[in-house]
Amino acid sequence: MRVLFIGDVVGSLGRETITEYVPKLKKKYRPQVTIANGENAAGGRGITGKIYKKFLQDGIDVVTLGNHTWDNRDIFEFISDAKKMIRPANFPAKAPGIGMVFVKVNEIELAVINLQARAFMTAIDDPFTKADELVAEARKRTPYIFVDFHGETTSEKQAMGWYLDGKVSAVVGTHTHVQTNDGRILPKGTAFLSDVGMTGPYDGILGMKKEGVIERFITALPQRFEVVEEGRTILSACVIDIDEKNGHAKKIETIQISADRPFYE
Ligand SMILES: [Fe+2]
Ligand SMILES: [Fe+2]
Repeated sequence: MRVLFIGDVVGSLGRETITEYVPKLKKKYRPQVTIANGENAAGGRGITGKIYKKFLQDGIDVVTLGNHTWDNRDIFEFISDAKKMIRPANFPAKAPGIGMVFVKVNEIELAVINLQARAFMTAIDDPFTKADELVAEARKRTPYIFVDFHGETTSEKQAMGWYLDGKVSAVVGTHTHVQTNDGRILPKGTAFLSDVGMTGPYDGILGMKKEGVIERFITALPQRFEVVEEGRTILSACVIDIDEKNGHAKKIETIQISADRPFYE
């Protein structure tokens, strides 16, 4: 089984990049399941029902989220009907939405889990304990389990990778918007990548207009960050091959498409 995972889609440039490249990536890599993190899809903050539907039309099978889940109020209108969208499972139990979804691929199922880290992030429930619960639940149905671990620090992400080694097929990080070069298969068969990177503006700072971000660093004054809406783009993703015998990962390959790393069909 091959899974394509696309990192944080930022704003209109990110969405346009998805529309343009998902068909090309599907043709080249032939994934059975395509997952994308959509926490920044609506102007850099959150997601709307219209954008969620467009992702599905563009060929995304599952949309994952993160700390920006609630930033666009439209989410409250559609989250309970969005069967292919998950938000971090360790958000407080009374928050709307779900943190795990199953996707059927021919005769087998892939469980997709979204978790959020805690270091330098909002105080939420322990993602490790929540991972134990969900993995136990998922494994009753399938050994194919993909985890999007949305977090700030490489240490917490590595900790989750090692914690889940042998229990899930892959742990891939999101949130920092910069792809890391540490893709590997851990000894018990879990694919790991600290961060898959972002999809959207190439010439901003994590997708935001650079002037405001630089000003904030220089003055330490509050700034209104605005998403970059025109210019060059980047797509960041990874492809994971999972052994259909046991759910272990066989290979993880990172993908970047930008002016500096052109796409070849
Ligand atoms: Fe993000
Ligand atoms: Fe995030």
